[in-house]
Amino acid sequence: MSNSFQEEIASMKDWLVEIRRTIHMHPELMFEEVETAKLVSAWLEKFGLEVKTGWAKTGVVGLLPGGKKGKTVAIRADMDALPLEEATQLPYASKIKGKMHACGHDAHVTILLGVAKFFSSIREQVKGNIKWIFQPAEEGGGGGRVMVEEGVLENPKVDAIFGAHVFPDLPMGKVGIHEREGLAATDRFRIKILGKGGHGAYPHLSKDPILAAGHLITQIHSIVSRNINPLDRAVLSIGKVNGGTAFNIIPDEVELWGTVRSLSPRVRERLKVRLEQTTQGVARSFDMDYQYEFEDGYPALINDPPMSHLVAAACAQGIGKENVEFINPSMGGEDFAYYLQKVPGSFFRLGCRNEKKGIIHSFHSSLFNIDEDVLPFGVEMFVRIIDQYLELKLI
Ligand code: NI
Repeated sequence: MSNSFQEEIASMKDWLVEIRRTIHMHPELMFEEVETAKLVSAWLEKFGLEVKTGWAKTGVVGLLPGGKKGKTVAIRADMDALPLEEATQLPYASKIKGKMHACGHDAHVTILLGVAKFFSSIREQVKGNIKWIFQPAEEGGGGGRVMVEEGVLENPKVDAIFGAHVFPDLPMGKVGIHEREGLAATDRFRIKILGKGGHGAYPHLSKDPILAAGHLITQIHSIVSRNINPLDRAVLSIGKVNGGTAFNIIPDEVELWGTVRSLSPRVRERLKVRLEQTTQGVARSFDMDYQYEFEDGYPALINDPPMSHLVAAACAQGIGKENVEFINPSMGGEDFAYYLQKVPGSFFRLGCRNEKKGIIHSFHSSLFNIDEDVLPFGVEMFVRIIDQYLELKLI
């Protein structure tokens, strides 16, 4: 069985490449994935799955009720592209100006379609149910949250969920696994320091919010180093400062925007509180008022360790233990976190780097590309994981 299963997936390669390139040439931004969703649902229907569209605007869900009773496993892909001009000059580069699949979501969609093709051809051997979740808006829109709120994990109730992201930090052929913490909570803050404007020659008649902002920027950077356990992980960066109009005018106010990332709810809360306390303290010391806004982004993505070990074992069976690596969390974010808040599962990485082919660029780069060998490779890894989880013993 093992050989024929691998051969069947290998023989899908041209079909997978064609789908990926079609999607790649026609990128769509968050909550606008209309054509991508049409392509997805057309294939799922062709494979004889139960298909429901219109989830979270453009999401698509396919269900394969197996031939025998068992657990329900879900796998998920994100469909959205980025507002970015592609610079690769590949023959299948984006045809849409200012939009690009620069995060590999085209590959994620394609891989899940390959898994659907595989299991639909052997559906009577499937014990339990397999659910395919194609969501919109991973890139900041929180499409995953909306899908969960709309009940994508119910009817039938999902027992476990798996998702993957292509990963240019690892070479093609390797799988990276986060045992527990995978990605960070991606919160943001905005602080306004309210001073009193005046002439730069007479600072004693005003309240200089620029000086206060300078102190605050320095103070804020002590939060991670002095208030967070060094064994926990957190990062805080100020990305935007805005204030002032001319060299000799003290402005009325200064605004700071920043991002703050953490891997646990406890650390997240601590950062939120200390940020405001620090702002309050600095503002008070300069006799000023302030406004503080903290906006929750995606929560931290927390894998279920037994599920991560299942992924590791299933993948190692195909590619050897030496090609499966347990890797550190990333301080990026991922809305797969919302699914993992509800059901156990694991989010893992598919290496897609290939130096010989010049595929070395990072996510969100205008030169981003993947080694397309990752398409059948990804299909095989998901098939192995589902086989293990549902105990199908096909392989
Ligand atoms: Ni992505």
